Amino acid sequence: MGDPIEHSLSPIMHNTAFKTLNLDCTYQAFRVNIEKLEVAIKGAQALGIKGLNLTVPLKEKALFFIEGDTIAQAIGAINTVVFEENSIKGYNTDGIGAQKALIDAGVQIEKSNILIVGAGGAARAISFQLAINGANIIIINRTAEKAIKIAKDVSQFGNIEGHGIENFKQFIQHADVLINCTTLGMYPRINDTIAKAADMHSNLTVFDIVYNPLKTNLLLEAEKAGAKTISGVMMLVYQGAEAFKIWTGIDPPIKIMANTVLEALKS
Ligand code: ATR
Repeated sequence: MGDPIEHSLSPIMHNTAFKTLNLDCTYQAFRVNIEKLEVAIKGAQALGIKGLNLTVPLKEKALFFIEGDTIAQAIGAINTVVFEENSIKGYNTDGIGAQKALIDAGVQIEKSNILIVGAGGAARAISFQLAINGANIIIINRTAEKAIKIAKDVSQFGNIEGHGIENFKQFIQHADVLINCTTLGMYPRINDTIAKAADMHSNLTVFDIVYNPLKTNLLLEAEKAGAKTISGVMMLVYQGAEAFKIWTGIDPPIKIMANTVLEALKS
């Protein structure tokens, strides 16, 4: 459920995984007005639906009437819902999805110096997850107050500082990982970037959560700097894979899901 929802790649990704594993399941997208969210969720439960994903702008409001696990409550948003006999449970797989994409690319989270740029919902989820797992995080944002607020909320779970984006050059020098959580470089403004090659270094791993275009200007610049790059597609795939595991108890076929999303984006 989301609003809008028509461009979501999750149905093709999950339906391909169900088919590959021969599971008698289907995943459908529903556009739900935020005012009708509670009725829609209760209706889905009444219909015997097993679970849901929630996306923008529904994730935060869901916490008003669904019990979230510790991480969903800390983040303040739910993206995965499971219906059980007499209860509805909420989870947030965005942070762990990003973390798995980093680990998959060889990043060790604990003690790693991670620079996060942006302070929206994605930055918040990723900050909590990486702080809990022992990273040293600096979060910077154009509107500094939003980065400082996230740092304040996350600081009880780990090491984090919040600053304005003008401090980018100072912090990137000591960073092992750079994560772009802003919308800069997203289609149609594909020439925008938070950093140029000259700002980065070859020991850096650069993760852009923007996946349209597949290779953002930031990732092209990072390659020029000799840095390792991770596409935002992997966050989409891993957050979906974690939700899949919550609903079915089964490890989904990650590579097939990633290829399905890549093919859909290319076409
Ligand atoms: P999401 O919930 O998906 O993370 P969002 O809440 O819309 O997305 O957040 C977008 C992020 O991109 C914000 O950090 C925003 O900065 P502000 O908080 O200052 O608005 C950042 N962003 C968007 N356009 C930007 C730009 N031109 N320069 C710098 N940051 C920008």
